[in-house]
Amino acid sequence: MTTATKTGTPIERIKDEKPGLDILDDIDELAAQHGGWETIEPGDRERLKWIGTFFRKPTPGRFMMRMRITNGRLTSAQLTALAALSSSLGNGVMDLTTRQQIELRDIQILDVPEILRALCDIDLSSLQTGMDNIRGTNTCALSGLTPKELFDASPVGEEFTRMFLGNREYTNLPRKLNVVFTGCLENCVHAETQDIAMTPGRGPGGLNGFNVAVGGKMGSGGMTVAQPLDVFVELQDAARLASAITLLFRDAGSREKRTRARLAFLVDDWGVDRFRKEMEERWGAPLAPAGKDARYDHEADHLGVNPQRQEGLYSVGLCVPTGRTCADDMAELARLAAAYGSGSIRLTVGQNVIIADVPEGKLPALLDEPLLSRLSPDPSSYARGLVSCTGNDYCNLALIETKSVSRRVVEALHSLYPDAGPLRMYWSGCPAGCGNHHAADIGFQGGKTRYEGEVVDAVTIFAGGKTGPDARAARKIVDQVPVSTLGKFLPGLIAKLKGNKFDPNLDLTETDMPGIDFES
Ligand code: HEM
Ligand code: SF4
Repeated sequence: MTTATKTGTPIERIKDEKPGLDILDDIDELAAQHGGWETIEPGDRERLKWIGTFFRKPTPGRFMMRMRITNGRLTSAQLTALAALSSSLGNGVMDLTTRQQIELRDIQILDVPEILRALCDIDLSSLQTGMDNIRGTNTCALSGLTPKELFDASPVGEEFTRMFLGNREYTNLPRKLNVVFTGCLENCVHAETQDIAMTPGRGPGGLNGFNVAVGGKMGSGGMTVAQPLDVFVELQDAARLASAITLLFRDAGSREKRTRARLAFLVDDWGVDRFRKEMEERWGAPLAPAGKDARYDHEADHLGVNPQRQEGLYSVGLCVPTGRTCADDMAELARLAAAYGSGSIRLTVGQNVIIADVPEGKLPALLDEPLLSRLSPDPSSYARGLVSCTGNDYCNLALIETKSVSRRVVEALHSLYPDAGPLRMYWSGCPAGCGNHHAADIGFQGGKTRYEGEVVDAVTIFAGGKTGPDARAARKIVDQVPVSTLGKFLPGLIAKLKGNKFDPNLDLTETDMPGIDFES
């Protein structure tokens, strides 16, 4: 049973006319249409997102396909197969996303059935990765490996995914739903910005489990920190509880306006006490009060060489600046993961990758591999913390180019101030905020402004965002700085943020980055 109320929004109407996931039954026929993508009617173009196939206005006829990588975990064989699909049926560009997912570019509609079949063969799926669905569930990229976790939460993400994937009960939510289950103590997944956030806690008798928060979000309305529900749930019940919250959202969430349809608005309308009561009613038994919060204060990115909890084994986290990579590099990464580790590869929400289970004796040879000169285990402090959304090369909503300009900014900063400590700079090409800029030390939101008589690319700058136990949204510092003048502006801002560690005489208006023109 799904309970879409009939409302006026175009997307609700499309769903009422024909459920999104029904497009799976039609895809062979759509793909075979001789007219190709032009003949796909607008409703079906939206429905294609239910099978992870996204029309991209900047590249008409060339779709993006989003892969669901549950827990950000994949095997060498899976990554090899994805890289092969990207080279043979796409343009070889692969994007790692801030939800530990992978996007393939330049896919033609006629090839979608073949890709869906290939995904089945490697036990991956692109279903329900867009629109009003539960997106790829996130967990710590080092789950099961890091000594700094209370427990491995990945089985819960897998169990939850088995409940909803391909199940039409969950495919008509009022809006998207982001979910994290994590046992990591180092706050590595921005849990507090999720619709459902399950973070490590100790319940009655010191039992390990999750404390539950709901209604987090990011985006154009800013960052809303998920509100603690005062609920503790044991691991074996957590997926069922997430399911109950999802179905409560499905049935009670507002569908009147897309801009007020996220779970955050239901939590806001009801208040936490009523939300908890409604949950308890559905659950059919008293929910335990929150346990002791086990999270540390700091955030980790899990890059570099780190000892695993398994004696003698190491994880090697590599930086993929802005997550933009290519089929050849991903195929090589898959080879290295099998040759040096167990073949297990992890994706991080910082758009980076980790090779797991490398024996100590194999570390020197792995670190010598040519791929690691491009995807570094020891990147500059700026590259390490860099995140960037898709930007205008593939996203029609983008007001600026993000991926290469942000890379040029970090390279310039590194050449001038190589000793800066860690700094997380996150870029979004527009207010939608897919680059999580409200959670950054310095967040950039793309826009346009007038400068020297011309309309130019600009960024509104935010600072001081944080996730973890004391999560807070970044504060707006300045509106619409022309991108070409960032060289003048950024060093001073960073110096201020870092207590003038760079240069005590730096002045925000007078500092300069000699020779850097970010628009070239
Ligand atoms: C009206 C609001 C939004 C719109 C229209 C929007 C649009 C998009 C588009 C078009 C893409 C795909 C671009 C591409 O790679 O080709 C995308 C990806 C993405 N967006 Fe948004 N977005 C919105 C809000 C958000 C918010 C609030 C977040 C949370 C921070 C977010 C997180 C993401 C992520 C993580 C991806 C990468 C795919 C994934 O891993 O799921 N988006 N978004
Ligand atoms: S933030 Fe804007 S530009 Fe970037 S991917 Fe999202 S919608 Fe596109």
